[in-house]
Amino acid sequence: MKKPEMRSCLEKIKPYVPGKPVEEVERELGLKNVIKMASNENPLGPSPLAIEAMKKHAEKMHIYPDGNCYYLKEALAQKLGLNNEQLIFGNGSDEILSFLTLVYVNEGEEAVTVAPSFSEYDFAMRLMAGIPRPVPLTGPDFGYDFEAILGAVNENTRLVFICSPNNPTGSTAGKKDLDSFIERLPDNVVVVLDQAYLEYVTDMDHPGGLDYVEQGKPVILLRTFSKIYGLAGLRIGYGIAAPEIIRELNRVREPFNVNAMAQSAALAALEDSGHLEKSRSLVSASRKQLAEGLAEMGLKPVPDQANFCFLDIKVDSRKAFQSLLKKGVIVRTGDIFGFPTYIRVTYGTQEQNSRFLKALEETLAELA
Ligand SMILES: Cc1ncc(COP(=O)(O)O)c(C=O)c1O
Repeated sequence: MKKPEMRSCLEKIKPYVPGKPVEEVERELGLKNVIKMASNENPLGPSPLAIEAMKKHAEKMHIYPDGNCYYLKEALAQKLGLNNEQLIFGNGSDEILSFLTLVYVNEGEEAVTVAPSFSEYDFAMRLMAGIPRPVPLTGPDFGYDFEAILGAVNENTRLVFICSPNNPTGSTAGKKDLDSFIERLPDNVVVVLDQAYLEYVTDMDHPGGLDYVEQGKPVILLRTFSKIYGLAGLRIGYGIAAPEIIRELNRVREPFNVNAMAQSAALAALEDSGHLEKSRSLVSASRKQLAEGLAEMGLKPVPDQANFCFLDIKVDSRKAFQSLLKKGVIVRTGDIFGFPTYIRVTYGTQEQNSRFLKALEETLAELA
């Protein structure tokens, strides 16, 4: 077939391989009630207020969405004490990552990331023929080494991605460390502070980040309705930054990038502080339940501030994955993050956690 050559930078991108739908896994393995603890979703589902709002708005789906997310922007700005000009919405916060590299990264320019971390930073960089420069997290608790991150910044660096709590480790960047890091960064670098799991954080030393934006620092905060708000299926996230940055990102945003159902559900979800509280309590109870159950197996997860934990199970995680799958539990293997004996497990309901613990115990016995 005659066709144009694919852009060579795309050779470094492997197409995303999605897992099979849970229903298909159940059919193939002849199982019922397979549980997915692999994507850091909220096991409580969306807020009932969001479900109501979606039902109500279903009749209006023949109308294009509001390209400016007007009502949602108003509500969020008011809730966070911001101006509307400091907000941008995306088809998931993933989309905003691509806006950032589209706007700020030329071919051969660099971004400093950490390893292991969320794969979309690499993807967004590669899309623009940019170069990700990963700096390893350190120690058994996967801490941020800001000296090393600063050392990796050079005159070609355009972005620094800091994910806190970090996916997949659940570890966080401390506020003082981040404050001084941002102070010392060259002016022409934008810090992307990915806060997808912020609402789960209880550590008082964690940076909220709004002060960076208020002080006019070149920082963008990325947040999402996919995690604690339980709206991952709708794809909606947002960025908070100085109006100059938001205006530039809006240049590459498609007019109707956030669908109408997502906007109405997110607006309703924002009002449901009870659902947020329930989701937070569930995670802290689950963290305790898993830590205790794992300790009985001689295992200790990395200390986390998120709705998942990263865990060295000391055996090949791909084999463990297959064995857990046969027992109806889906987790994420660590090999994709460069840690082949680790798994990442999303905290579930009490019952799901118990099933996971039992399945893991059996799996480890089988693989011993
Ligand atoms: C650290 C991090 N950032 C961003 C996202 C993507 O969020 P969204 O669903 O809003 O695109 C995820 C999803 O897993 C994540 O783990």
